[in-house]
Amino acid sequence: MNFREIMVSSSSGPYAIRLGNGIREQIPDLLQTLGFPKNEKVGLISNETVRVLHANALSSRLEKKGYPVVNFDFHDGESYKTMDSVMSCLDKLLSVKWERKNPLIVLGGGVTGDMGGFVGSVLLRGVPVIHVPTTVVGQVDSSIGGKTGVDHSEGKNLIGSFYPPKAVWIDPSYLETLSLRERRSGLGEVIKYAMIGDKKLLEFLDSALETLASKNFDREVWEKAIFSCASDKARIVSEDEKESGIRMNLNFGHTFGHALERVTGYQGLLHGEAVGLGMIVAARIGTLLGITEKGTEEIIVDFLQQAHLPYEWPKEIAYRDLERYLRNDKKSSSGMVTLVLPVRPGEVVRTNQYELSVLGSAIP
Ligand SMILES: NC(=O)c1ccc[n+]([C@@H]2O[C@H](COP(=O)([O-])OP(=O)(O)OC[C@H]3O[C@@H](n4cnc5c(N)ncnc54)[C@H](O)[C@@H]3O)[C@@H](O)[C@H]2O)c1
Repeated sequence: MNFREIMVSSSSGPYAIRLGNGIREQIPDLLQTLGFPKNEKVGLISNETVRVLHANALSSRLEKKGYPVVNFDFHDGESYKTMDSVMSCLDKLLSVKWERKNPLIVLGGGVTGDMGGFVGSVLLRGVPVIHVPTTVVGQVDSSIGGKTGVDHSEGKNLIGSFYPPKAVWIDPSYLETLSLRERRSGLGEVIKYAMIGDKKLLEFLDSALETLASKNFDREVWEKAIFSCASDKARIVSEDEKESGIRMNLNFGHTFGHALERVTGYQGLLHGEAVGLGMIVAARIGTLLGITEKGTEEIIVDFLQQAHLPYEWPKEIAYRDLERYLRNDKKSSSGMVTLVLPVRPGEVVRTNQYELSVLGSAIP
């Protein structure tokens, strides 16, 4: 089978992203090619939902090819992205005498990926991690670049590490079992890549967004969209692994998006939906500051509408509800926050730090 390959540079050396419909069937062979011999233990970390849909099948496939598999499942949901969940996973792996050479395959969405990656980074001071993402957010974003994360009651992803994986294997056909709402939510991240600098993706979305947002899953169109985003992410993290420059652009829409997720207790809005609204707020702030060109907010709204994503601010949420969480955002300090604001579609700027209280005027 012909798969696309994207290389990523990292402080721990380069790694390859392999992408293509059907790659899941090749996973045992890919593992062997990567240098993990048969008969040696492999961890398959997933969650209770993905276990039934995909992890059992992968586990059997690996066993059939001669890999003894140790399975572990997190509970499903952002509310379980906690150190308790991480500890349960570490307990399980240590109880079977894990060794540094044994790899962990992390199969699931961004929540599983962030926690599985963190487990990999701290277990025995680091064991090999291979990400096999199964959501849109996972495939276009979170599995690439080595950021791991665990939530704390003070805020999202406040615990974590930079831990580059050994490989990322992306099979778009995994998305077929995602709910339509989850798939559409992932389009929030896809739109983000177009807005922050991928002009070809902007053009592609003009014609393909309707197909991507439709009930019927079009494998080819999805593969193209994921390839564009994964290539963008690979380029950005290769240039700026530790987020001191261009990688910050990936936070476009996220400062307010994360705060919205927190304020709704991760119940009201999905990640990509919150990011979509966050992009609108960023455009409004940019307009207030004279940075964002006229018409940009309307283009974001138009994309969100085409993707069937929310584009109106939830009436029950006021700025003062968000402020506490904005203050706790990792990118804010002393009440000031660095923002990524759109100049026009396909171009963003990182601003100087702004006093948080002035930002409220962008929220209705
Ligand atoms: N590390 C990074 O760079 C990075 C980047 C972006 C987002 N994130 C993190 O990712 C998380 C969001 O990820 P997400 O949107 O993938 O959420 P998620 O992991 O919660 O997955 C969403 C839902 O889809 C289910 N699911 C996963 N794969 C499925 C499949 N193939 N079929 C059916 N159901 C499936 C999950 O069980 C879950 O219920 C957040 O915690 C965010 O902080 C991390």
